[in-house]
Amino acid sequence: MDKLRIEGGNRLNGEIRISGAKNSALPILSATLLADGVMRVGNLPHLHDITTMLELLGCMGVEVAIDEDMSVETDCANIKSCVAPYDLVRTMRASILVLGPLLARYGEAEVSLPGGCAIGSRPVDLHIRGMEALGAEVDVEDGYIKARVPGGRLTGANIFFDTVTVTGTENVMMAAALAKGTTTIENAAREPEVVDLANCLNAMGAKISGAGSDTMVIEGVEKLYGCSFDVLPDRIETGTYLVAAAVTGGRVKTKDTDPVIMEAVLHKLEEAGADITIGDNWIELDMHGKRPKAVNVKTAPHPAFPTDMQAQFMVLNALAEGTGTVIETVFENRFMHAQELVRMGADIAVEGNTAIVTGKEKLQAAPVMATDLRASASLVIAALMAEGATDVNRIYHIDRGYECIEEKFQQLGANIRRISG
Ligand code: EPU
Repeated sequence: MDKLRIEGGNRLNGEIRISGAKNSALPILSATLLADGVMRVGNLPHLHDITTMLELLGCMGVEVAIDEDMSVETDCANIKSCVAPYDLVRTMRASILVLGPLLARYGEAEVSLPGGCAIGSRPVDLHIRGMEALGAEVDVEDGYIKARVPGGRLTGANIFFDTVTVTGTENVMMAAALAKGTTTIENAAREPEVVDLANCLNAMGAKISGAGSDTMVIEGVEKLYGCSFDVLPDRIETGTYLVAAAVTGGRVKTKDTDPVIMEAVLHKLEEAGADITIGDNWIELDMHGKRPKAVNVKTAPHPAFPTDMQAQFMVLNALAEGTGTVIETVFENRFMHAQELVRMGADIAVEGNTAIVTGKEKLQAAPVMATDLRASASLVIAALMAEGATDVNRIYHIDRGYECIEEKFQQLGANIRRISG
């Protein structure tokens, strides 16, 4: 298993390019199942999760052609199976995103239940209820969601989510796009990735309005067509490098990104003492060599502070001046990094969903590992300010969500290398 070895102490300085957003690319690739004709998706990040989604489409019979620049062309003319098997779903929960498109276009779907996950129980009941509201008959048996549409076509409905769910909203949007009649989603997720999917579906011929607000209206159409669509930049990757720069007192410019979708994170970085300058598609953070000040963060659905940036800000607080609290409200078990950070000398007390973090000037190197993607990234950031060489183990989590992480950190002057094993 590969690991990353990071020698702490270097201040980050330089420029990097931000990749396309994983959490936008995954629903958009699923949406290609709805297209009549060839669909091209560009600005895809080179990540393990993207490969898994392409493999899933491939095993259903979708013809997939990958270009050198990581754009992909898909053609669903010869679909032969509507099954998302356990072996793929267990490695990537987002496989559940094929449920809506399969039901809408082919009237049937068998998707393995994703099961538990390191950051919380993460049920899919809201996805299932959404499909039932649109007229699907759903049984859960043998570990699979087995669904079919009597009469072959879903019917529009009013759907209210009692919890804001990102992929749940996306699944219903994709299903409703081809349903007969109009669907309203209330308490819809407002994440930029949801808006990106709506833009893509509309470019395919869908009639979706209200994306980015908590009420979306989807007028079903008879057909959706292939189009060419580039996924939006990854706001979590952007935020991760900006936090890394802040923690080391450095100066980093992230290019090919989108400042407009990062308000909550940029605001917290400014509160921590960072100078932030933005352009149309870039963000520069300069700490002028200073240590960050501790900040309080509380995660919640967009536009509030994102849960996917919580672990990185816990590290920022662990190295900041003062004491900050971190409250996690989206997932019930997303503090797995806290204990690893304590092993590196961080002062963190966890009480329920609150972590009280008192900053130290330096941490100490230690062998660490994490059980989820963002937690692993936070350990890399911690290692940048640790005395000695830290080995971050089990980095297959990182490879699921960060393109070329060691190259990008090296470009910024970090002493980091991958050790294959
Ligand atoms: N929930 C339910 N029932 C459902 C669905 C969700 O109770 O049927 C609960 C979850 O257990 C959780 C809350 O609702 O407590 C919100 O979960 P959500 O459904 O929004 O999460 P998700 O769609 O499974 C996406 C991202 C995650 C990100 C969350 C929250 C993708 C592929 N994944 O997950 O990204 O943390 O939204 O913003 O879009 C990551 O990239 O590292 C990552 C975990």
